[in-house]
Amino acid sequence: MYKLHTHCRACGYGKPSGPPGIKSSPSGEKLIEAMGLGLQPLANNFCGPDDEHHGFAPLKVMLCPRCSLAQLSVVVKPEILYSNYLYTTSKSATMQEHFDRLWVSVCQECNPESVVEIGSNDGDFLDYARKHGAGAVCGIDPAANLTEIANRNGIQTFTGVFDEDTAKMARACVPPVSLVIARHVFAHIDDWLDFLFCLDVLCAKDTLVVIEVPYVCDMLKNVEFDTIYHEHLSYISIRAMEALLETSPFQLERIVRFPIHGGSVGIMIKRRNRNLPQCKSVQDHLDNEKATVKEWGEFKEKSVVAVGELDNEVRALVDQGSKVVGYGAAAKSTVWLDCLEFTKKEIGFICDSTPGKWGKCSPGSDIPIVDEGALLRELPNYAILFAWVYEREILEKNKLWRGKGGKFIIPGPEVRIV
Ligand code: TMP
Repeated sequence: MYKLHTHCRACGYGKPSGPPGIKSSPSGEKLIEAMGLGLQPLANNFCGPDDEHHGFAPLKVMLCPRCSLAQLSVVVKPEILYSNYLYTTSKSATMQEHFDRLWVSVCQECNPESVVEIGSNDGDFLDYARKHGAGAVCGIDPAANLTEIANRNGIQTFTGVFDEDTAKMARACVPPVSLVIARHVFAHIDDWLDFLFCLDVLCAKDTLVVIEVPYVCDMLKNVEFDTIYHEHLSYISIRAMEALLETSPFQLERIVRFPIHGGSVGIMIKRRNRNLPQCKSVQDHLDNEKATVKEWGEFKEKSVVAVGELDNEVRALVDQGSKVVGYGAAAKSTVWLDCLEFTKKEIGFICDSTPGKWGKCSPGSDIPIVDEGALLRELPNYAILFAWVYEREILEKNKLWRGKGGKFIIPGPEVRIV
């Protein structure tokens, strides 16, 4: 189901040397354990009663003391994680606002005439790009159920992982590529050197590449431990990216911060060019980043407190006879529920807007997932907002239920009831 991961995928720290089979690095270099979350179910493995459950895998974060990249100690086989992926990019207003911000930043750096998206999901962003002036768009995604939707909507999308073949096909599809975008996919990739090799195949001379990932410093600062699950193999700093790119044909161009997903970073890179001065945003991030053992230690302690607070709050409400449910069967909800050890006894159901998740259960806890209308049908007293990323619009959308006395519990470093 998974293989062990023992050396830094950005700078190579801890890489075994010597004859094959001898697992030692030159000077006993080893990644440092930053945080252990025990054995956890695969966060997006929502299953119906007859589906095969994928089971549990260790969830442990290891830190590279040289370049500060945090990475999971295991890599679950991608064919298990992604073959029939239920995660579709949210069609929410929050995401549309994010697309607007992202597009403005991109247009400051290039004329996005022809766009290739790596991990294009159901084609939502490429559709946005098309509507905002891109003449040609092309996607690459391994989930056949999603690429079928994209192709049906007229967005040419290749089914497969990003490799040399799909890179060549995409390059031929929209030449010359002016923009390559990889939104929240880079942290899912194990072999970054291969990714850079394929980028080299795909990119023209002046192609702008934008890699958007959750920013590790925001995650640590805001105690967003629910970002840690098996699909996210890496928790990325700009220092780690600089180390990765050092020996590649690419260089950091500009860093842009976005509020989406609790704090993300758009890492803009281009082909190496000695005449291009490094942008101030790159230097600022390299100078000010804090993602060392110290910050991870503080993060771990605050995460334990956050879980304890929500646990106390919800158990007290249930003991008083209140009916509590969940809202948003996001991967984040699986992480929370596993840490809280809640079952159907505490949380009756989780409502979610994704039809593909209805009738399935949350991995590990087996809490059933239902449509959002259940709030008004069942009138629970409280709903834990696991999809806190969309707080503003979910609160707005559920005004009727709130008017009838329903309250949202927002998890986080400090529990809020609204
Ligand atoms: P995400 O944080 O990974 O995008 O997942 C968010 C989940 O929340 C996803 O399963 C869809 C769900 N959701 C709702 O149920 N209602 C909503 O209004 C929104 C925006 C998301």
